[in-house]
Amino acid sequence: MKKEKIYILGIESSCDDTSAAILCNAQILSNVVADQKIHAEYGGVVPELASRAHQQNIVPVVHQAIEKSGITKSQLSAIAFTRGPGLMGSLLVGTSFAKSLAYGLDIPLIDVNHMQAHILAHFIEEDGHKKPPFPFLAMTISGGHTQIVKVTNYFEMEVLGETIDDAVGEAYDKSGKVLGLGYPAGPEIDKRAQLGNPKAYRFTKPKVDGLNFSFSGLKTAILYFVQREVKANPNFVEDNLNDICASIQYTIIGILMDKLKLAVKQTGITHIAIGGGVSANSGIRKALKDAEQKHGWTTYIPKFEYTTDNAAMIAIVGYLKYLRKDFSNFDVMATARLKI
Ligand code: KG4
Ligand code: ZN
Repeated sequence: MKKEKIYILGIESSCDDTSAAILCNAQILSNVVADQKIHAEYGGVVPELASRAHQQNIVPVVHQAIEKSGITKSQLSAIAFTRGPGLMGSLLVGTSFAKSLAYGLDIPLIDVNHMQAHILAHFIEEDGHKKPPFPFLAMTISGGHTQIVKVTNYFEMEVLGETIDDAVGEAYDKSGKVLGLGYPAGPEIDKRAQLGNPKAYRFTKPKVDGLNFSFSGLKTAILYFVQREVKANPNFVEDNLNDICASIQYTIIGILMDKLKLAVKQTGITHIAIGGGVSANSGIRKALKDAEQKHGWTTYIPKFEYTTDNAAMIAIVGYLKYLRKDFSNFDVMATARLKI
């Protein structure tokens, strides 16, 4: 018997990226992302502007995703959308649009948890990408999230630890602001870190029990450090930028790796998958590769386009839920603080 083809439209609008993707079974046919440049002027995401931009982008982005996929709307099997967590105004745009289109086409609606999607992005079928076997540990690291999750099955997940204040991406972006770098600063700090001395300056790691994280103290430590040094040498930042970036990166990667090592010790699980915008970071990638050699871990890093916020990861969760006939009622509501 020929395998039935399931086509899912995924819609993501939780923060500042409007994205739509079409998936045929577990393969991506298109994944369109419209990011919002406007926030760079403000040094961070402005929720009110984000929801307006989603409103403007959503129809063209969905249209483009369908056109690129080579299928027509009438072939869609279901529509999956991000229900939360995220910014309420942003979530409402994707949620309302997904409901209307599913209602109009008379097909199932599937709500997706954004944090589960970052993890399940590893199950998108891609040449050369190996899927993690269950159980595995997932570390989601981005501008909005920092979590270590034990994944026992597709929808059996347990958060073992998470940040009690800032996300790791925020630590990068806020440190970058102190150094006068543009937003988001993560990629620039990463680039400069590779040219500097990671041990030039020392920043103490936060003391947080168990598998939770804290990054707000680091940002303050960096601010005071820079203020003190600039008093002695007004050109301190310009003169030592690569070394400062390398030292910040060394500290942050140290914090992430310490917690991962503890999670492995506590659970005995050595399959480690990462996701979220910060997984593009060269330091974390290298540290994970080193851990494969040193500790015998097996690590999984998704393709770059599936690490930052995107609708392909929403569509793959939609597909997995479709197979279980796990559909949503049309009165489902966007939820800003949705738990895994
Ligand atoms: O997943 P993402 O696109 O959006 C959120 O859900 O937050 O992640 C964006 C975050 C930003 O904080 C950005 O500075 C950080 O990811 N980032 C990086 C790198 N590339 C992006 N941080 C460190 N090194 C990078 N190479
Ligand atoms: Zn995200």
